[in-house]
Amino acid sequence: NAGEPLPKNIILIGFMGCGKSTIGRKLEHLLGYPLVDTDELIEQKTGLSVAEIFAKRGEEYFRNLEAAMLHELAAPNAPRRIISTGGGIITRKRNRSLLKHLGYVVWLQAPVDVILERTGRNRDRPLLHTENPREKIEALLTERKPMYAATSDIEVETIGLDAGEIACGILESA
Ligand code: S3P
Repeated sequence: NAGEPLPKNIILIGFMGCGKSTIGRKLEHLLGYPLVDTDELIEQKTGLSVAEIFAKRGEEYFRNLEAAMLHELAAPNAPRRIISTGGGIITRKRNRSLLKHLGYVVWLQAPVDVILERTGRNRDRPLLHTENPREKIEALLTERKPMYAATSDIEVETIGLDAGEIACGILESA
């Protein structure tokens, strides 16, 4: 579809540290659709960081904000976008069906070692504030894999290729 604008949103789902933000920026550059990130929208709306929301109000409160934000993004006549999502957005059934309706859903994946390394070095992930982050990642992945699978149109492994190549591959498949 070289040069042809895609008539749909592209939605990036997947675990923390699988490259949603990085690949989202590449897609934004390639496709010219604006990139929005559900975590960032929540932070803008509340004036709090995701970590602060978890600490002050708890996970359930964050999940309610996340669901409300997704609902806003699904408004009729919204402009085409690239939507990068928080890793846990698929834990609610209603979110899974909204995501599927919203556009082409791409499940970004990475091995546990890579997730552990990436989540250790950047942004604060309150769910991984634990004695044993590797075990926590493995447990969450086991729980969530069927949910990512049920929500996505394609699965993309993110190691071994650079973000630009991955983004091109996504556009070719969309
Ligand atoms: C979460 C992932 C985070 C953020 C919050 C909870 C999760 O987003 O929404 O810390 O439940 O996996 P990223 O996947 O962008 O890190």
